[in-house]
Amino acid sequence: MCGIIGITSNKTVSAAIINSLKKLEYRGYDSAGVATIYDGVIKEVKSEGRVENLEQNSLIKSLEGTVGIGHVRWATHGVPNSINAHPHSSSNVSVVHNGIIENSTILKKFLEGKGHVFKSQTDTEVIVHLISEHLKTKNILNSITTALKQLHGSYALGILFKDEPDLIIGARRGSPLAVGYGPNENYLGSDSYALKSMTNKITYLEDGEFCFIKKDQVSFYNEKGIKINKKVLELSSNQANYEKGDFKHFMAKEIEEQPVTISNGIKEYVDQLNNEINIYNFPWSIDDLNSIKLIGCGTAYHSCLMAKYWFEELTSLDVSIDIASEFRYRKNKFKKDCLYIFVSQSGETADTYAALDLCKQNKMKTCAVVNSVESSIARDSNFVLPIHCGPEIGVASTKAFLGQILILYILTLKFGYVKKDLSKKIYQNKIKDLKKLPKLIEKTLLMDNKIQNIVSDLNEAKGSMFLGRGFSYPIALEGALKLKELSYIHAEGYPAGEMKHGPLALIEEGMPVIVLAPRDSYYKKTISNMQEVIARGAKVLLITNKSKDEILSENLWETLEVETTNDDLLPFLITIPLQKLAYYSALQKGFDIDKPRNLAKSVTVE
Ligand code: AGP
Repeated sequence: MCGIIGITSNKTVSAAIINSLKKLEYRGYDSAGVATIYDGVIKEVKSEGRVENLEQNSLIKSLEGTVGIGHVRWATHGVPNSINAHPHSSSNVSVVHNGIIENSTILKKFLEGKGHVFKSQTDTEVIVHLISEHLKTKNILNSITTALKQLHGSYALGILFKDEPDLIIGARRGSPLAVGYGPNENYLGSDSYALKSMTNKITYLEDGEFCFIKKDQVSFYNEKGIKINKKVLELSSNQANYEKGDFKHFMAKEIEEQPVTISNGIKEYVDQLNNEINIYNFPWSIDDLNSIKLIGCGTAYHSCLMAKYWFEELTSLDVSIDIASEFRYRKNKFKKDCLYIFVSQSGETADTYAALDLCKQNKMKTCAVVNSVESSIARDSNFVLPIHCGPEIGVASTKAFLGQILILYILTLKFGYVKKDLSKKIYQNKIKDLKKLPKLIEKTLLMDNKIQNIVSDLNEAKGSMFLGRGFSYPIALEGALKLKELSYIHAEGYPAGEMKHGPLALIEEGMPVIVLAPRDSYYKKTISNMQEVIARGAKVLLITNKSKDEILSENLWETLEVETTNDDLLPFLITIPLQKLAYYSALQKGFDIDKPRNLAKSVTVE
């Protein structure tokens, strides 16, 4: 989850590299650095903290050179400081790296034995000295192929060579990397977002591949060092998507975009005239599928859990879910008639990608539900269901979560209908309800004042609980995650019916408990569970939906009522106040909402 940029040009590159690093900060923001080659010398400038610290580093102004590499870091080995920041350089090689080198300790001992002196605590520095060691007896191409073979683990690399002042080498295994093409210059970047401000012509490297980039020529090689041809993709360039506009934070913008992104998702898959769902080019017969396995991490895992409830309710399919980092090491029983669905906003999450790879090795049917159709998970799945949310920049996922569960809900309806678990009438009525969802989200977004008034109490608490049953339980988990990652307040999502089996002991006077109790079939039971925590002193925020019926409770801290719709769709609406609660809580605390501490947007390492 670090960010890499490289530029080789006919003009000085340090300013352009810094500008691109700012767009990559969502991938990691512990420290940053740039290296160029000028007058036959590798020069590097590195700073702890944000890219703006690097920009203000007095040495940057004198950083000449028409070839350079830059990096924003999310620390894996070695504390965040300017010494451990990338690039790492010897006298003749400089490297930026995203990934983890698992055999770095052994290699470091070997290289120290050869007289190499290390300055940092990072695994990356091993790569620098390994290539330098091979350069003593091999040319650049053979030094690269030999060194890469010796590395165990994952990497996306940008490499400079003192004696080749117009060359950048890129190499990929397990972490994304792309080449961009410009006028009299070419680029290397972690993803298209980093490159989009300079070009929309992109080539993605696949695992094991590497490339030689010069300002007027790019060549690609496979892991044996044999030249290969690669496609140049032309990406849509809608720059507006990448700006905050009038919003204070990307997260605020992305929460407010949800009526549009949900509407876009519906338009992509629903024939609104005939109330039909179209999943074009689905490569298998739905009738031949008897089970579904959904796999993801974090918020994407919560989408999987939400989908499990819908699939169980609306279809006869056997549905299971797994956290990707668990699935990839479990003794899985693979089934030919099972569809393996990988949910990922970025499409680059290392654990989810590894789970996909495991399924591919076992020749399973794989489907990706992603926001980035250019991503590794999308490219390597048999079938892709894009969520069409546009770039999500805020590290805390909001519109992508709603987009993921929308596509999974649409898939549920389609499967339920084709497998005759849903009558045409029910199927089409649910589609009609679905079409009204964007408007309902729009109305539900209008509850900022009530939420802003309660966050100060929430912010004084040392911990909180989010409770829900049935369809609301996955949303309770998601709401707790939002509060944790934005406000750094401990928050636990829990099945409402489970509190009496232990966690009720946590409840003390004034403890905030957010209870999700829309008026679905679980309402009465959840209200009973709510009474149990109120009786023990909890401050309960009840989130339900508008109804003429009285609320079956008093002594509430606050009640938020979302719009009303059929039970299937209430999870979409009760998510909204939870997103806002976390946002306003972090806003009041003055935390960095778009880049919370210790996190990154795309977790491309284990
Ligand atoms: C969600 O708010 C977090 N940023 C995190 O849990 C995220 O959902 C998780 O890392 C998975 O990312 P992905 O969807 O890009 O695979």
